[in-house]
Amino acid sequence: MKLLFLLLCILYANGFLLEGNAVTTISAPMSDRHYDMLFNMLIDERRARQQQDRLIEQLQQDLLATKQEVTQKYIVWNKNNGTLENLYLELENKTKNMERNCNSMLVSFKAVANKYTELQNNYTMLKNLVVKVETTNHVLENKTNLIEKENKMLTQLQTISDLKSVYNLWNQTKHLEEELLKTNYNLESIVNDVDARKQDFLALFSRLKSTDKKLDNVSESFHDELTATVNASNHMFVVLSNKTNLMKRLISEKVALSSCGGQYGLMNPTIDGMFKFPDIRTSVGVSSSSIFVNSGVFICKYAGLYHISVTIMTDVSVAYFEVRKNNKILVPGCIPNHNDHSEYYSSGTINTAVEIDINDTISVWKGNVNHYYGYYSCFTIVKL
Ligand SMILES: *[C@@H]1O[C@H](CO)[C@@H](O)[C@H](O)[C@H]1NC(C)=O
Ligand SMILES: *[C@@H]1O[C@H](CO)[C@@H](O)[C@H](O)[C@H]1NC(C)=O
Ligand SMILES: *[C@@H]1O[C@H](CO)[C@@H](O)[C@H](O)[C@H]1NC(C)=O
Ligand SMILES: *[C@@H]1O[C@H](CO)[C@@H](O)[C@H](O)[C@H]1NC(C)=O
Ligand SMILES: *[C@@H]1O[C@H](CO)[C@@H](O)[C@H](O)[C@H]1NC(C)=O
Ligand SMILES: *[C@@H]1O[C@H](CO)[C@@H](O)[C@H](O)[C@H]1NC(C)=O
Ligand SMILES: *[C@@H]1O[C@H](CO)[C@@H](O)[C@H](O)[C@H]1NC(C)=O
Ligand SMILES: *[C@@H]1O[C@H](CO)[C@@H](O)[C@H](O)[C@H]1NC(C)=O
Ligand SMILES: *[C@@H]1O[C@H](CO)[C@@H](O)[C@H](O)[C@H]1NC(C)=O
Repeated sequence: MKLLFLLLCILYANGFLLEGNAVTTISAPMSDRHYDMLFNMLIDERRARQQQDRLIEQLQQDLLATKQEVTQKYIVWNKNNGTLENLYLELENKTKNMERNCNSMLVSFKAVANKYTELQNNYTMLKNLVVKVETTNHVLENKTNLIEKENKMLTQLQTISDLKSVYNLWNQTKHLEEELLKTNYNLESIVNDVDARKQDFLALFSRLKSTDKKLDNVSESFHDELTATVNASNHMFVVLSNKTNLMKRLISEKVALSSCGGQYGLMNPTIDGMFKFPDIRTSVGVSSSSIFVNSGVFICKYAGLYHISVTIMTDVSVAYFEVRKNNKILVPGCIPNHNDHSEYYSSGTINTAVEIDINDTISVWKGNVNHYYGYYSCFTIVKL
């Protein structure tokens, strides 16, 4: 309808136009050419309108989007308005604080600058002081060198060998030390009076030297006495150890032999005329006991003093026998007459002591006894 109305309007207008331009043709019918032109115009117009519609729609959408965007931006900006203001205030506060700090720093800086000037002054003063101390030090060094030189001389003194001299030297050194201590206390005055101190030191040194000489004399005589004492005690030691060795030998050389005939009945002496005692009861330190058992002869192994005891029991009345050393009589023994007493057997005993050497022999000779009662006839020898 709209379209038709528009078309009619145009047509009508066109009619007016045609009427104005060529009044003569107003009543002439529309030619094909006019129709085509009109139709094309309609088509063009429609196309342009469609395009316009699209453009308007596009513009509407754009406007909507822009509106939304602007709204959002506004909201955000509104939100930020408070933050920004705060930021500004904060910044302002900070700036003021900085200003304040700057002012106080300026004050501090001035104080530091003053301090620095003071320090500089003090440093200059110190430098002057150090120069003074160094000068004093040189003087002290010179003094120390002198003392060291004299100390070396002291250490070259002879070494001292006995305790007494060492003790006295120690005592002397202590005095020296005290003197040195005093010297140290008076170091300032020493610096002013080097020569005087040097004299003191030399005096002390010579005192020490003379003391040392005295000590040497004492040391010498002490040494002589000591040598004599050592000699005497050395001799005493030799004598004592000789005696000790002898005692040891005597103690270790124990000898004891106790032996009887053994048989319950009469026994005969040996062909050599000696009593036999083959029943050994005690044997200590005897190496030739088999010779003794077979021959009745005891052979001495260790020289020394011995005690001998012999008892012979026999039916021989008034019997005589002997203890022999190296087959020579040492002590005689006797068995009395017992026929008068209706006793069948009787015994006699010899007790004696003898000093014998190595390889000496001891035996008991039968005398006039041709048989003896074995069980009660015994022989004992003991080294004392
Ligand atoms: C920003 O904030 C201040 C105070 O909070 C207010 O006066 C001002 O109107 C605000 N601005 C806008 C655009 O909202
Ligand atoms: C400014 O800074 C000072 C020190 O930082 C603080 O004590 C004070 O509250 C601040 N003032 C404001 C308005 O933020
Ligand atoms: C400088 O020396 C004077 C006197 O010796 C002293 O009182 C002062 O504290 C010194 N100054 C410094 C910064 O050490
Ligand atoms: C130290 O001794 C040397 C030579 O020994 C001398 O030249 C110097 O002047 C002395 N110094 C002082 C401060 O006495
Ligand atoms: C140390 O020597 C001094 C004199 O040089 C003397 O008077 C003192 O008795 C001595 N001391 C001893 C413990 O001998
Ligand atoms: C040391 O002894 C000798 C003789 O033995 C003597 O001439 C000398 O004077 C003595 N020295 C001292 C310091 O006593
Ligand atoms: C000590 O003995 C030795 C040798 O044994 C001897 O040379 C020295 O003279 C003796 N000394 C004394 C003081 O008897
Ligand atoms: C000590 O014994 C040995 C050998 O045993 C001897 O030569 C020396 O003379 C003895 N000495 C003394 C002091 O008896
Ligand atoms: C003792 O006798 C034995 C054997 O006959 C012999 O070897 C030894 O040398 C003798 N000893 C002495 C000190 O005569």
